[in-house]
Amino acid sequence: MSYNLDQLNAYCKRYGFIYQGSEIYGGLANTWDYGPLGASLKNNIKKLWWEEFVSKNPLNVGLDSSILLNPKTWEATGHVSGFKDPLMDCKQCKSRHRADNLISQATKNQVDADGWDYQQMYDYIIENKIKCPVCGGFDYTPIREFNLMFKTHQGVTTESINDIYLRPETAQGIFLNFKNVQRTSRKKVPFGIGQIGKSFRNEITPGNYIFRTREFEQMEMEFFCKPGTELEWFAYWKKFALAFLKKAGLKEESVKLYDHPKEKLSFYSNATTDILYNYPWGFDELWGIASRTDYDLRRHQEYSGEKLEYLDPDTNESYLPYVIEPALGVERLLLAILIDNLEEETLSDGETRTLLRISRALAPIKITVLPLVKKYQGDKAEEVYNQLLEDFEVTYDDTGNIGRRYRRADAIGTPYCVTIDEQTLQDDTVTIRERDTMEQVRVSLDNLNEFLRIELKK
Ligand code: GAP
Repeated sequence: MSYNLDQLNAYCKRYGFIYQGSEIYGGLANTWDYGPLGASLKNNIKKLWWEEFVSKNPLNVGLDSSILLNPKTWEATGHVSGFKDPLMDCKQCKSRHRADNLISQATKNQVDADGWDYQQMYDYIIENKIKCPVCGGFDYTPIREFNLMFKTHQGVTTESINDIYLRPETAQGIFLNFKNVQRTSRKKVPFGIGQIGKSFRNEITPGNYIFRTREFEQMEMEFFCKPGTELEWFAYWKKFALAFLKKAGLKEESVKLYDHPKEKLSFYSNATTDILYNYPWGFDELWGIASRTDYDLRRHQEYSGEKLEYLDPDTNESYLPYVIEPALGVERLLLAILIDNLEEETLSDGETRTLLRISRALAPIKITVLPLVKKYQGDKAEEVYNQLLEDFEVTYDDTGNIGRRYRRADAIGTPYCVTIDEQTLQDDTVTIRERDTMEQVRVSLDNLNEFLRIELKK
């Protein structure tokens, strides 16, 4: 059985992965808070990405730039004038829609309004009598432009001169620091700068649980290379991204590539591919990978007046590097990982168990320590718990019968259960139960941490 979004939401709430944001005030629509397991899973995902793209990758270095950037940044990139969606209100039920989405939904993706002007979209909706998907009405306002950037004021006055934006992507902080990072890290082109952080977009139609929200985290890299070599690097990072998803535990058949057709590419891009994941509503964007030419650096050079060219020390050539950008959302990957790894397994005795077959590296908890009977083995189990706490993310569970405790550990993806029983008190050995096979081995306490360290690397 695969989980639909409602079932997944119930599972995440029950086990402490994800809660509705501001729940005690009746919630704040489309905001989500990450509970103990969700926070740990998110951190493990970010850690894996950081290792693969930054700390263990000789090509790249890392950055942590601010959320608030000089507003000129967004004029230079075109976000102030162009980061807009076509907004339409249903006059009957007051729901808001993206006009292009109304068209693609009504035509089951047969008609793609991307690139149409607003009048074309409006005429299509009216001529084809596309009804409001919320109330079935057919009475719309004209299409208005809606800028997706969150605007706020810096300082104590609310004059427009102090208008400032929450960043809609982490990427621009990287471009602004290109020279700083290149100089201080003494990296030679080709090299990349990776960054993880929050981004904000005032999405008109957030939804599909944590898939599209107004506040989210991105893991982005800008890879700077010599003009003319960009398509080779584009192919390289696409392959690298697919290998990363495999490492993160996604099945090969759950992802596919969508190459943007040449005529639909953004004017600054000479190649763009989305990695799509098979979410419960169908294949949708997980990861965008774009070859962005020198557009961003050129625009920032123009608007800031700062020279951003790279001087190649080997050839003495000066040029603006071209850029490959793999941009991935943390929550979209987290959602994909849960969907891909969560199952109801029927066991040989006919019983079923909920099993999160998540990779060991990402499992929110690596080990749980269980005394068989709390009254007799509780003290010893606490000793073992403390011994493991030094090295691992470990929990202690002494409530309920042992079978139910194993089931709970399986349901949240804990790879190993360490059980303390009567024999432990006599010979200092414990039982280790593996999550997927449910096989058990007996290991001595002296050797326990080392044994688990090796197992968890598998
Ligand atoms: N710098 C390029 C950039 O931001 P994007 O395709 O707009 O490109 C990159 O975003 C990734 O960020 C997406 O593939 C998705 O994983 C994630 N993302 C974008 N908007 C999101 C939203 N509203 N909610 C959650 N994740 C989002």
